[in-house]
Amino acid sequence: MAQRVVEKVLSMRFDSPRTILHGGGCRNELPEQARAWGSKRLLVVTDAYLVQAGIVAPLIEQLKAADLEVRVFDQVQPDPTDANVEAGRTALLEFGADAIVAFGGGSSIDCAKAIRYLEGELPLFAVPTTAGTGSEATPVIVITDTVADVKRMTRDPKLMPDVAIVDYELSMSMPRALTAHVGVDTLTHGIEAYVSRKRHALSNLVARSCIERAGLYLRRAWADGSDREAREGMALAALAGGMAFGNASVALVHGMSRPLGALFHIPHGLSNAVLLPEVTRFSFRGAADHYAEVAAILGSDPEQEAFVAWLERLNADLEVPRLRDCCGNRRERFEALLPKMAMDALASGSPGNNPVVPEAEDIARIYLAAW
Ligand SMILES: NC(=O)c1ccc[n+]([C@@H]2O[C@H](COP(=O)([O-])OP(=O)(O)OC[C@H]3O[C@@H](n4cnc5c(N)ncnc54)[C@H](O)[C@@H]3O)[C@@H](O)[C@H]2O)c1
Ligand SMILES: [Fe+2]
Repeated sequence: MAQRVVEKVLSMRFDSPRTILHGGGCRNELPEQARAWGSKRLLVVTDAYLVQAGIVAPLIEQLKAADLEVRVFDQVQPDPTDANVEAGRTALLEFGADAIVAFGGGSSIDCAKAIRYLEGELPLFAVPTTAGTGSEATPVIVITDTVADVKRMTRDPKLMPDVAIVDYELSMSMPRALTAHVGVDTLTHGIEAYVSRKRHALSNLVARSCIERAGLYLRRAWADGSDREAREGMALAALAGGMAFGNASVALVHGMSRPLGALFHIPHGLSNAVLLPEVTRFSFRGAADHYAEVAAILGSDPEQEAFVAWLERLNADLEVPRLRDCCGNRRERFEALLPKMAMDALASGSPGNNPVVPEAEDIARIYLAAW
C-alpha cells in the first residue's frame, strides 16, 4: 500500500485579543463587556499616580453604577516587580474577584496579566492609558526579578487579554515627556517587528500601519496634547505595534533596553529611544530592504546614515535626552556594568531575532556609542 506522505505545513500564527474596542469614549462600554463575560466582582489593577490624579475614580463609579463589585489594587510600580504581582494576587484572592481590569500604562497591564496567569481562567479586560506599549494586545509581559535585578520577558498565549478597550481620550492627560517616551516605544515596536527574523505577512501589515501612524502623529501629539486626531492616531499605532511585535517579536533595541531599566531605572520608552538610532546603524545591513521601506514610510531618505540621522533628529525634536543624561553621567559605573548588561541583553533572547545577531562585544560597543 502506498504510503501517504504528510508534509509539514509551515503555518504562520497571529494572536490578538478576542475583542478590541477602540474610539473616543469606548471606555464607557466596560460595564457592558463585564456583564457579557458574566463577571460580577472586578479587581482593578492600576498604579497610585492614576488613583491620586483622579483618573481611576470615574471608571470605578461607572462600574459600581452598573451593580458590579469593585476593588482597586493600586500598588503597581513603573516596571512592575515580582513582589507587585504577588501583592496583587493576594488582593485578588482576598476579594474573591471573578475578573480583572487592567487600567493604566504597560506596567499596570503587565502586572494584571501576570496575576491572571497565576490564577487561571479569569477574564481580563485591558484599558491602556498611555499610547505606547501595546500590552493590551500582546501575549507578553515584562516583570522585574528583584533577586537577580533583571527585567524578564515572558511570552505565553495565556497572557493575552480577552478584551482590549483602546480609548485615546485616556491618553490625553499624558505630559510631553511621557508622550515622547511611550511614542518612540511604539515606533520601535513597529520597526523591530518589521525587520525581525520572525516577521511574516500578517505581522508586517500591522507593523507598517504602526510605523505610518507614528510618523504622522507622534510629533503632533507631543506638540499639542489636546490634538484628538493625533492622540487617536498614536493610540492606534500603539495597538498595531503591540499586535505586530506580539506576533513577530521585538529585537535588539528591546533586548538592550531592559538592562538599562533594571540597573539604571530608566523608563522603558526612554531607554528604547536612546538606543534606537545606534541599534539601527548596527542592524541596517541585515535587512536593508525592510529598513529602506520603513524610512520611506516615515519620509526619510532610505540610506542607512540618512535614516539614522532621521531617528536622531526625531529624538532631538521630542527632547529625548542622551543615554549619559539618563545615567546621571556616571560613566565609570556604566562601564563597570557593561559586561553584565551585554550578557543580560543576550540572555533575554530578543537579540537573536535581530537582522544582524550581535555578540556581547557588539552590544557593549553599541551601548558606548549611544552614551
Ligand atoms: N507587555 C508588553 O507587551 C510590553 C511592551 C512594551 C513595554 N512593556 C512594559 O510596559 C512598562 C512601561 O509602560 P508605559 O510606558 O506605558 O508606562 P507605565 O505604565 O510605567 O507608566 C508610566 C507613568 O505614567 C503614568 N501615566 C499612565 N497613564 C497616564 C496618563 N494618561 N496621564 C498621565 N500619566 C499617566 C503612570 O501613572 C506612571 O507613573 C514597562 O515595564 C515595559 O517593560 C510591556
Ligand atoms: Fe516596548
